[in-house]
Amino acid sequence: MNQAMSGPPTPKKLSVPAIRGRKGGDRIAMVTAYDVAFARLAEQAGVDMILVGDSLGMVTLGYDSTVPVTIADILHHSRAVVRGAPATHVVADLPFLTFQIDNAQAIQNAGRLLQEAGVDSVKIEGGSRLAPRIRAVVDAGIPVVGHVGLTPQAAGVLGGFRVQGRDLTTARQILEDARAVASAGAFALVVEAVPSDLGDLITQQVSIPTIGIGAGPGCDGQVLVCHDLLGLEDRLAPRFAKRYAELGEAARDAFAAYAREVRSGAFPDAAHSYGMPAETADQLREAAKHDRD
Ligand code: KIV
Repeated sequence: MNQAMSGPPTPKKLSVPAIRGRKGGDRIAMVTAYDVAFARLAEQAGVDMILVGDSLGMVTLGYDSTVPVTIADILHHSRAVVRGAPATHVVADLPFLTFQIDNAQAIQNAGRLLQEAGVDSVKIEGGSRLAPRIRAVVDAGIPVVGHVGLTPQAAGVLGGFRVQGRDLTTARQILEDARAVASAGAFALVVEAVPSDLGDLITQQVSIPTIGIGAGPGCDGQVLVCHDLLGLEDRLAPRFAKRYAELGEAARDAFAAYAREVRSGAFPDAAHSYGMPAETADQLREAAKHDRD
């Protein structure tokens, strides 16, 4: 592949201290990716961090929630993303039931993501109750991104995929969760689906960068699911999921044009077929005639 095709020069991978240093400074742009093609494009576009989110269960595997996603799924997709974006900080989600049981389980699974997939950090959903678990994983030398507010693995308990922290009691709890996760040693914090005022307050009160998704403009960074951002996902349309392209429509049009041309015989044409010298073709036909007789 030549330079013109491969895009601008690859950026330098952001380290954990560099990401922490973005608190209150240049905003962090994070996006999810699940395969080598989109990871490569995200890196070429210069995003700061890539998340191999367990949202992959919904947008690439067709589940209705993130609960069925396994550590094997995340390992498989993380390896592809790391191959596609070797110069970008890659965070991988610890999926449901891979960290909830005890510290040993959490350390072991987080360690596998670093050791077997080559990711740079892991993300753990949960607030105050999970803080000791986050501390144990960080103490084992594994960088952790926290995740509070709407935590999709607990959507069943939270009443579905809906905005959290709209009343005083739950808003105070989420603020407390954010403080606890930061104190436990997380180096960044995803804040999902909370009112902007709460997103602002969390950002002001924790010392680590907040990365919002539906948490308003006051966060230190933002994350979006790649399929939402690119217009590839039609089933879910959360308010915060701004579509920057309509690749789904473009892909549907391309599939339809292809099917039409196959059926009409317009594809493949000479430009998309291999040739051979006319003389060789004549000899081949002649030989085939004799071989048949
Ligand atoms: O799994 C995921 O994609 C996430 C983002 C929504 C932050 O956790």
